Amino acid sequence: MLRTALLASLCAVPLHAQDGGQLYTLYCSACHGADGKGATGGQFPPLAGSPWVLGDAARAVKVVLHGLHGEVEVDGRTFNLEMPPQGAILPDDQIAAILTHARSSWGNKAEPVSADFVKATRAASADRKGPWTAAELLKLHPLPASTPPIANLLSQVYQGEWQRLPDFSTLKPGNIEEEHDGKISIAKAGFTELFGMVWQGDLTAPEAGEFRFRLDADDGARVLLDDKEVVKVDGIGPMDGSRAKEGKIKLTAGAHKLRVEYFEYKGQEGIALSWRGPGIPSWRNLSDKPPKTGPDPIVIGPQNGRAVVYRNFIASTTPRAIGIGFPGGVNLAYSADNLAPELIWTGAFMDGSRHWVERGQGNQPPAGESIVKLSGTPILPKEARFRGYKLDPAGNPTFAVQIGGLTLQDSWKPTDAPDENAATRQPALQRRVSLKGSGSGLELLISDQSESKVFDDQEVSFADRFFIHTEGVVNLINRGGKTYLKLLPGETATFDYRWNR
Ligand code: HEC
Repeated sequence: MLRTALLASLCAVPLHAQDGGQLYTLYCSACHGADGKGATGGQFPPLAGSPWVLGDAARAVKVVLHGLHGEVEVDGRTFNLEMPPQGAILPDDQIAAILTHARSSWGNKAEPVSADFVKATRAASADRKGPWTAAELLKLHPLPASTPPIANLLSQVYQGEWQRLPDFSTLKPGNIEEEHDGKISIAKAGFTELFGMVWQGDLTAPEAGEFRFRLDADDGARVLLDDKEVVKVDGIGPMDGSRAKEGKIKLTAGAHKLRVEYFEYKGQEGIALSWRGPGIPSWRNLSDKPPKTGPDPIVIGPQNGRAVVYRNFIASTTPRAIGIGFPGGVNLAYSADNLAPELIWTGAFMDGSRHWVERGQGNQPPAGESIVKLSGTPILPKEARFRGYKLDPAGNPTFAVQIGGLTLQDSWKPTDAPDENAATRQPALQRRVSLKGSGSGLELLISDQSESKVFDDQEVSFADRFFIHTEGVVNLINRGGKTYLKLLPGETATFDYRWNR
């Protein structure tokens, strides 16, 4: 059956003919991501929304033929990596199919690329030795003017002597200037000391959700969205990253009113602002220079649909925590000290940069969002002993604990919540606990968080943000503000840990 189907498909179309999507998966997605957003959480440059992919196709054809190295700016971010040439392995029709796919996927809209065009471009650049630099390619094939990061940006300059951010509404501004490049910049202020500046414009959130803003300034600055302060750096000081601050805000998809205020006392001056969030997988500049940051994040996440394990100090749990990043943007930190799942969160898993080389300093907070602290104390009787964990072929863990003659198996995996609609899909984790051996059974602490409540013996809710749903008959007990599960030898209980969208 399988063989016939395969033969049939081989006869119908020669294999190299042009399934652009499949070829993309084979030759590009390891670095640029299945979703075109750049693999490993945006470590690699995106093709989704990249002006390099759109417009004049010669640019992208040449990148694929000969490779690219050195600095390249994509979507407000600078990369300095190396893309290997693929011209020797990929024939013209396959390059055409891949680029046609990339130009019509993930929101990209540009005309198809023909095999003839690739052939002509290959011939025209036949004497090219070694990979291109972005500068060389841009000279030959300039990018169309990119859309400014902030729309309808206006600025006003103020003069005065301040050591903290003033109340600009009480001050007399200079002329209103239009900032067509849509970037926060003091380059054209006309002053280098004793001045202030206010920008106003429209910032468009590509999707709804929580956005982070990173701000640094010499001297002070603050950022407001829809008149709400999001982040502030105040007082006098340098812009070297030591005073940089981060703030976050929930935004609906669409345009929001952005206001940025800034003042400079004396000496050096500057402001730097960037943001990230749903639809913006890595920091994107809103200013003419990016804020200085610590080491570049090394995003650790699931690989090839398999969960990944992180063994290092994770903030808000105990030193012997085991982090698991599952596919689908759900994550768990299990404490081998308290024998308990302690943190779960959605979105990105961990930033490994702090602990990449050595164990580094301090605890690394989860990189994602919607962090739920389930408990912070031992959840089993004192005699309980950790017996390690096993991973199934998908990388999903089962933690084992021995309590006298009983063994508790605690298994976790990602699950699709019943809502089939991908856009509103609730991220969820499934937990299965089973008890084997002999004894009188166990009371397992499910949550010691005072905001947790049990409903209908079936659901534990955490201040409406998050809930645990049980399947089948499960014996949940609420006592003294804590929630327990009663489990007898031979019993198994299954729960979904679901986030409310
Ligand atoms: C081994 C990893 C790797 C593979 C495989 C790969 N690329 Fe790239 N690609 C990169 C890197 C890294 C850069 C940025 C190079 C730099 O910093 O100068 C890049 C840059 C690009 C760019 C320009 C920048 C951008 O983001 O738009 C395009 C277009 C591109 N690649 C297309 C492709 C296509 C199409 C394929 C498949 C045929 C592919 N790449 C395969 C690593 C890869």
